[in-house]
Amino acid sequence: MSVVVSLAERRSAAAPAEPLLAIEDLHVAIGSPGRAAPVIEGMNLEIRRSEIVALVGESGSGKSLTALSATRLLPRAAEITRGRIRFDGADVLAMGPRALDGLRGNRIGMIFQQPQAMLDPTCRVGDQVAESLRQHRGLSREAAGARVVELFREVGIPAPEARVRDFPYAFSGGMAQRVMIAAALSADPDLLIADEPTTALDVTVQAQILRLLHEQCRRRRMSLLLISHDLGIVAALADRVAVMYAGRVIEEGPARAILSAPRHPYTRALIECSLLKRDAGGRLVALPGSAISARELSHGCRFQPRCAIAAQSPHNHDCCSNEPALACCHGSHKARCWAVKPESEEVQQ
Ligand SMILES: Nc1ncnc2c1ncn2[C@@H]1O[C@H](COP(=O)(O)OP(=O)(O)OP(=O)(O)O)[C@@H](O)[C@H]1O
Ligand SMILES: [Mg+2]
Repeated sequence: MSVVVSLAERRSAAAPAEPLLAIEDLHVAIGSPGRAAPVIEGMNLEIRRSEIVALVGESGSGKSLTALSATRLLPRAAEITRGRIRFDGADVLAMGPRALDGLRGNRIGMIFQQPQAMLDPTCRVGDQVAESLRQHRGLSREAAGARVVELFREVGIPAPEARVRDFPYAFSGGMAQRVMIAAALSADPDLLIADEPTTALDVTVQAQILRLLHEQCRRRRMSLLLISHDLGIVAALADRVAVMYAGRVIEEGPARAILSAPRHPYTRALIECSLLKRDAGGRLVALPGSAISARELSHGCRFQPRCAIAAQSPHNHDCCSNEPALACCHGSHKARCWAVKPESEEVQQ
């Protein structure tokens, strides 16, 4: 993995302090009433205007549920039990159906891992994108049709005048993701949420889609919440990185600092695993245990059962008995670990 410092990282220095999206102390539980189990506990995340924030972490750590919480699109079994979510100053958790409709369709765009699955196979792709333009922008049929052709051109779909009349089966995975990006951009959103947008695509197509996302963010001054397992992608795109473990952030900060000088042992392990290292027996190095079972710990650091440092360090007692706070270790770089010496007393519970 090459750690490339993004141009956007420099942009963030000038970004205003007021976040576009602020998630504070978010708690989400899943299950039937009375038997719901917490899956997100005390999640904090901020995204500023024009900023690209990457959310990384193992499968099941709560990345998608965090993103879905921001637009109140959680699955039926999941419920927000505590916390605050503000978008451009508005209280998302207090929004009624009309305000939520405006938020989802206009201010926040979303793209997901399986673009083909998001398209209706029985309907021409151009009509599907036009329908959302007519709904959210109130455009006439003709104006929406013309705008879809422009959007297809903008996202690099060849021969857009002809392609709008095709059905989804005629689109490859990469082209279908371009359609989804066009649909998401059609409302000119302030924030795009991209949940594993390239995981289902082959490597060359991945690079094209990522370049497209990066260009669109720069041109539109749009913020991006990028959820990805691929730290190479994160390194190339993100201004800031938040690392999630067992339902909360355990390290966050500038992308360059997190990827080249990670402080939390979990982040270090994640980077090690992403380098596809092999052990002496030639097997791929994998992190033992899982983030999901860590939620069952009633006290201590949730990473402690998997942590080599905790096993030997003088902090061992704290690691087993108390959850560390997310503390500043250098500038805006923060980590939730007893073994990381905090730079200041400023901490977040
Ligand atoms: N619809 C659902 N019903 C039951 N449990 C769910 C549902 N959706 C998510 N969960 C559980 O909530 C936890 C967090 O899920 P989430 O989808 O946010 O993880 P993730 O970090 O996005 O993982 P991945 O990288 O695999 O996409 C997981 O333990 C998951 O099994
Ligand atoms: Mg997910």
